[in-house]
Amino acid sequence: MHHMLKFINAQLVVELGTSLGVSTAYLAKANPKARIISLEGDPKVAALAKKNMKALQIENVDIEVGEFSSVLPRLDLDRSIDFLFLDGNHQEQPTLEYYDYFIDKMHPEGMIVVDDIYWSKGMTSAWAALKNKRAVRFALDFYDYGVLCLGKPDTIPEEFTLVHRWAKPWNLGFFPS
Ligand SMILES: C[S@@+](CC[C@H](N)C(=O)[O-])C[C@H]1O[C@@H](n2cnc3c(N)ncnc32)[C@H](O)[C@@H]1O
Repeated sequence: MHHMLKFINAQLVVELGTSLGVSTAYLAKANPKARIISLEGDPKVAALAKKNMKALQIENVDIEVGEFSSVLPRLDLDRSIDFLFLDGNHQEQPTLEYYDYFIDKMHPEGMIVVDDIYWSKGMTSAWAALKNKRAVRFALDFYDYGVLCLGKPDTIPEEFTLVHRWAKPWNLGFFPS
């Protein structure tokens, strides 16, 4: 994600799910001038993440504390979001609702990374729906996570899948003769 942010020159990044701030730090270090807004529901975990940002001398991160659904309406977004990382509350319905909430706030050619897309049946269904959304120009399936690359709404969504290491034929006992 760090390199993706650099590639698209992201200026505003939103992350749902800070935890201790590991991914947040990678996002923040991609461009110290970009603004990273990261949401965390657990106040103790958020306090540790804030401490970690300080220790890493990261100054471009705002950590907002509270249940996502109550924090979202009070986010102060001063421009369109270039990069959104959905990494918390991995259930089908909330994941679809986060997409619906953010899609109009995204840059038309922004990127959305959804973590754990095959973590459960619900997440598998959510990913199946998200990759076919009208605003998605193409979707990249990295198995552990998926990337929705937004683009012209009238283009046909395409999907590119990278087969995970464990699912490679030779790891399942099939060898070329
Ligand atoms: C998988 S962790 C995030 C990991 C982090 N992005 C990283 O890669 O370093 C998910 C975090 O989201 C928070 N979370 C989950 N559901 C939430 C919700 N509905 N509202 C607020 N926070 C939530 C959890 O407390 C947890 O710390």
